[in-house]
Amino acid sequence: MDAHSADVAEATQTDAYYCEVPSDPCLIVMFGASGDLARRKLLPALYDLALHSCLAPRFRLLGFARTGMRDDDFRKSAGEFLPKAEEPGGASGKKEDFLQHLQYFKGDYDDPDAYQQLVKRLEELDRERQLGGNRLFYLAVPPEVYMRIVEHLGKAGLAKPVSDKAWTRVIIEKPFGHDGASARELNEKVLSVFDESQIYRIDHYLGKETVQNLLVFRFGNGIFEPLWNRNYIDHVQITAAESLGVENRAAFYESAGALRDMIQSHVLQLTSLVAMEAPATFEATSVRNEKIKVLQSIRPFATETIWKSVVRGQYGPGNVDGKPVPGYRQEPGVKRDSAAETFVALKLHVDNWRWSGVPFYLRTGKRLARPLTEIAIRFRQAPHRVFRGENLEENSLVLNIQPDEGISLSFGAKSPGAQMHIQSVTMDFQYKRAFGSGPRSAYSTLINDCIRGEATLFDRADSVEAAWALVDPILDAWKSASAPPFPNYPAGSDGPRAADDLASSDGRRWRAL
Ligand code: BG6
Repeated sequence: MDAHSADVAEATQTDAYYCEVPSDPCLIVMFGASGDLARRKLLPALYDLALHSCLAPRFRLLGFARTGMRDDDFRKSAGEFLPKAEEPGGASGKKEDFLQHLQYFKGDYDDPDAYQQLVKRLEELDRERQLGGNRLFYLAVPPEVYMRIVEHLGKAGLAKPVSDKAWTRVIIEKPFGHDGASARELNEKVLSVFDESQIYRIDHYLGKETVQNLLVFRFGNGIFEPLWNRNYIDHVQITAAESLGVENRAAFYESAGALRDMIQSHVLQLTSLVAMEAPATFEATSVRNEKIKVLQSIRPFATETIWKSVVRGQYGPGNVDGKPVPGYRQEPGVKRDSAAETFVALKLHVDNWRWSGVPFYLRTGKRLARPLTEIAIRFRQAPHRVFRGENLEENSLVLNIQPDEGISLSFGAKSPGAQMHIQSVTMDFQYKRAFGSGPRSAYSTLINDCIRGEATLFDRADSVEAAWALVDPILDAWKSASAPPFPNYPAGSDGPRAADDLASSDGRRWRAL
């Protein structure tokens, strides 16, 4: 029996809900292992995979960071972020077992010697654990460090697979670049060291089960696709609202803002999935080819239209969930006169046959009334009004990405009684009710996909650059003019008034949060 078959046999309780067979044994090197992302998202996601026997039982994770720590300290700090005993997966005896797979490597990201030692450490672990030479480098570090790590990996000879049978892959977190020019530069650097097939640019929204279901909903069913075009759809609204503030990320957020942080990546990804044509197959190249066509069809923002079609905002003090919260400028680490936007609303057009004349309204923001990510398709009204005097609402199809994952369709129904009164009602599908459990974490899905060599849900170099090409003119215009008087919306509200005007000037309105 070879090593991989032995792993498959050992994983007696592979959970079909999560994965069919455990993946290849491999060594994950996590740069930034003591950071927030690694501890809050990545390690719990890996534990979730281990719990459901999706990781080969011999996998190893080597945390690489600058903080001095022993293996035990690293395990202890990782353990604090795994589910507690009373939470799902928390009582399993697998938690201790999982932590034993974690090891730590203290190193400076800029020190060539550290990479030479890393080479030796990887060879040892590979031999001891019979990992077949498979390696995954995960860059969970601040974006300004990406280039240096990639360069060092290349120089140390770590970018090339160790044999014909082994694989080496790299996951690069968002933000991929700070603007179009820096994204191109980063792509060039990464592509000078790794082959595109080894590079996994992660956007965790693509790993959300509800986001993937958008493709199943559209292309696995015959009902809605015939209606999915300018003849039946009046407009599309995409909302990614958060009630959280900037948390402890002021240093990043001050130079990023909502346009870079959310629109360039997550929200444009959702737009591509809503607007794309059916791919020939559900394989990486087909799906990515269709997605990029959408980005290429979006009408570029001309400087004179930006002031009319893009609104930026920043929250002031207010109340969220009944509790008073400070304004953005009062958050620790934020400049008292900061011009960083914590809210963006914009209108765009996808100039192609399917979407000609159908506006897409996108909005995202922090410290809004409630957390809600949804895609709402607003259909045109019936062409002839038979029920006179009744104020009929348009039909809406709402794909709720989070937190109440599901899909609902609203339509008019006759309310009981002698009168012909029409009331809007909904048909609802809810994940939890239908499947008995909520969706799994996006990071579990994506890490699992990367280990299996499945790149469909990752970003390609050209699409990252195409997304930057759309937002760059907005960034330039904002740079050249002073920001509107900030703050311009109170925490806990639906955003600035100018965002309402953006929709109402077209005779439309945002869905309430
Ligand atoms: C991240 C952004 O990419 O996505 C954060 O940097 C944001 O600012 C987060 O809070 C939202 O992700 P989710 O999965 O909580 O909607």
